[in-house]
Amino acid sequence: MVSRAEEGGTALPLTEARSPANTSWRERWLEWRNRRYISKPFQLAAQESIFTRWLVRRRSKALFDLLGGFVYSQVLLAFVRLHLHQTLAEGPRSLEELSTLTHMPIASMRRLMQAAVALRLAESRGPERFGIGVLAAPLVENPGICAMVEHHAVLYRDLTDPVALLRQDERDTEMARYWPYAGRHATTEAGSLETADVATYSELMAASQPLVAEQVLSSYPIERHALVLDVGGGAGNFIVAAARKAPRTNFMLFDLPAVGQLARARLAEQLILDRVQIFGGSFFADPLPKGADLVTLVRVLFDHPDERALAILKAVRAALKPGQTVLIAEPVQKTDASEAVGSAYFNMYLLAMGHGELRTPAQFAHLLGQTGFGPLTRHPSPSPLQTEVFSAKAI
Ligand SMILES: C[S@@+](CC[C@H](N)C(=O)[O-])C[C@H]1O[C@@H](n2cnc3c(N)ncnc32)[C@H](O)[C@@H]1O
Repeated sequence: MVSRAEEGGTALPLTEARSPANTSWRERWLEWRNRRYISKPFQLAAQESIFTRWLVRRRSKALFDLLGGFVYSQVLLAFVRLHLHQTLAEGPRSLEELSTLTHMPIASMRRLMQAAVALRLAESRGPERFGIGVLAAPLVENPGICAMVEHHAVLYRDLTDPVALLRQDERDTEMARYWPYAGRHATTEAGSLETADVATYSELMAASQPLVAEQVLSSYPIERHALVLDVGGGAGNFIVAAARKAPRTNFMLFDLPAVGQLARARLAEQLILDRVQIFGGSFFADPLPKGADLVTLVRVLFDHPDERALAILKAVRAALKPGQTVLIAEPVQKTDASEAVGSAYFNMYLLAMGHGELRTPAQFAHLLGQTGFGPLTRHPSPSPLQTEVFSAKAI
């Protein structure tokens, strides 16, 4: 709600601003409607009327999905852990075969497959026979999705008491240990993290990077650049994909020293070390290497609160000349706050992880404006659910 002060009038206390005399027609209508929705006699009447019965059923289902969603996620986890997507991708199997392959009692496997059919992870192909479902099919060639499902076990434990999680200021969560640079270590100690601290998250990032790289590289013509600096470039998987798309472009990767070591191994394995220079350091403490005509920040800024995001952008600006470009690719907060992925999933995820922020395009534009960049350009991506792509030029 916009306060009177923001509209240019005098600030009113919240309670006064909400009193009936001051509310708009829309708000009064919403209040009236909500009182009806809350009323038990209204609910019973709506359930019986042929005009509203369908709506009641649809809302009840949505509410039940919300209430039972955590069970659905655990069905998905069991399905993935038992590699059922891979088994069923080879062709339909009987219940007995699935039970033998997974060493699972047949009655339990029946239960799991009934749940999987309901959630469209599997399809029924005759009595006690199952094929792969439409929602499990994309898992087969995208191991990154399975890696995400598996690591949700960590987030799941942190969300056991969501109110406590929301109340804690300095959070000692499992997610903060999983992402050690995003919690207490963020500024001072990140540079001294060791391989054992960074290996698990770097593996997850590497596994999920192909999906992100597809989005970024189909939205932005990276081949126009001669030298690209990937800041927070992880184990180098974005560079591997970009180097394939842009065979004449060279690259620099900057990440924490321990992650840089992982990148060196990965890029050597891909035989592209001759096109990539690797720099280990912390973007909060060390200058970024100069010379690139494009700096990419792929899934980097949203890990950090505004003051740290500003520090990163300042470091990026110092590495660029006027007219050169920064490219930002990460999930975005929708302005109408209606999209569950952004508003519910990433907000709670970043809370458990540390102090990250999902930002609207206007918030990116504001941060860029404060750090010496011009207006934000949006590069539409084919499937903007996970990652949106923006760029801005240094001024
Ligand atoms: C969410 S991961 C994204 C990795 C990669 N860009 C991708 O999309 O797969 C964020 C990356 O930022 C790096 N990072 C975090 N803090 C850093 C710091 N202070 N200096 C340099 N890199 C840092 C992490 O090591 C990690 O590789």
